[in-house]
Amino acid sequence: MIAELHKKKHRRQGGPTRILGIESSCDETAAAIVEDGRHLIATSLSSSQQIHAQYGGVVPEVAAREHAMAILPVVESVLRQSSLALDDVDGIAVTQGPGLLGALLVGVTFAKTLGMALDIPVVGVHHLEAHLYANALEEALEFPALGLLVSGGHTSLLLWHDYLHWDVLGETRDDAAGEAFDKGSRILGAAYPGGPEIERLARQARHRSLRLPIADLGDTLDFSFSGVKTATKSLWEIHSDEAEEVAYALQQAVVKALVKNLERALDSYPVRHIYLAGGVSANQALRDSVRHLGEKRNIKIHIPRIEYCTDNAAMVAAIGYHRMREGKFLDIFEGPVATLPLG
Ligand code: KG4
Ligand code: ZN
Repeated sequence: MIAELHKKKHRRQGGPTRILGIESSCDETAAAIVEDGRHLIATSLSSSQQIHAQYGGVVPEVAAREHAMAILPVVESVLRQSSLALDDVDGIAVTQGPGLLGALLVGVTFAKTLGMALDIPVVGVHHLEAHLYANALEEALEFPALGLLVSGGHTSLLLWHDYLHWDVLGETRDDAAGEAFDKGSRILGAAYPGGPEIERLARQARHRSLRLPIADLGDTLDFSFSGVKTATKSLWEIHSDEAEEVAYALQQAVVKALVKNLERALDSYPVRHIYLAGGVSANQALRDSVRHLGEKRNIKIHIPRIEYCTDNAAMVAAIGYHRMREGKFLDIFEGPVATLPLG
């Protein structure tokens, strides 16, 4: 099977393995070209967030339509930027799930069609696993490590053994960390997506004295963020002219809950590396707190650049390179999968 991956490469006589990554799981249509799972050659992204903002959340039908319109332009853009032709691509990696079915369908159908036309292999990748691989674009990954995956739909703590091998140590039992920000933002009457809004408001807080509780789940490394949403609503009813202070309290509570479990995981799994990933890892308060934990425990903290924390195709191409080496290709009859557990 690996021979199949190299078929095209041999036709152009050696050189790096170039993967075209395609992402369309939610509200960003993205393409990227990455060499050997590490070196980003070109990236392009078209977001429909502005449209969804009018509705306070992603409208699946609208997202799918926008992907259909944006997919060709983003692919053309990465080819133009890199001065490469489609024939220079060795394989295609596409987000297969989890995500919005109609949105995923656009990327998966496009990738399978292009793969067939070019006679190159296509791999379907897991969106959340791809988020972790945003870190591979910065430097070679080091193992064993803890991984904290914090996005709009998921919150997972992983023990990462090696490329493509990990155990899930804890997950959210209800809302995801990003969802807590998105719902909190809606409560405060701020925009979608909520994370950047809550961060912006929190930065303007002067007193920083309001507090919100975090869930106590006993001995587990699981998370729960539905309580903080309800508590935000109650706090907002009392302090309805202090959006900045309430946003600060929400951000502080979410960050504290995440860092608390990271620290507890370190007690049981004393690794030397922590990787952060997912949209919420763009949050500066979280980045600072995790870096502080790293200093305290003498651990190396790895966080992707802000633009690779949220959805992008570079991370998809990066993990795609490793999946291809495993020889797990997308069958022509396989489609997208809306719900896909980690691992
Ligand atoms: O990973 P991502 O782009 O998409 C999913 O796979 O879900 O994550 C999106 C989530 C949203 O909930 C958004 O509010 C949150 O990441 N987010 C942030 C920040 N930027 C995005 N949360 C906190 N602070 C930010 N700066
Ligand atoms: Zn994502």
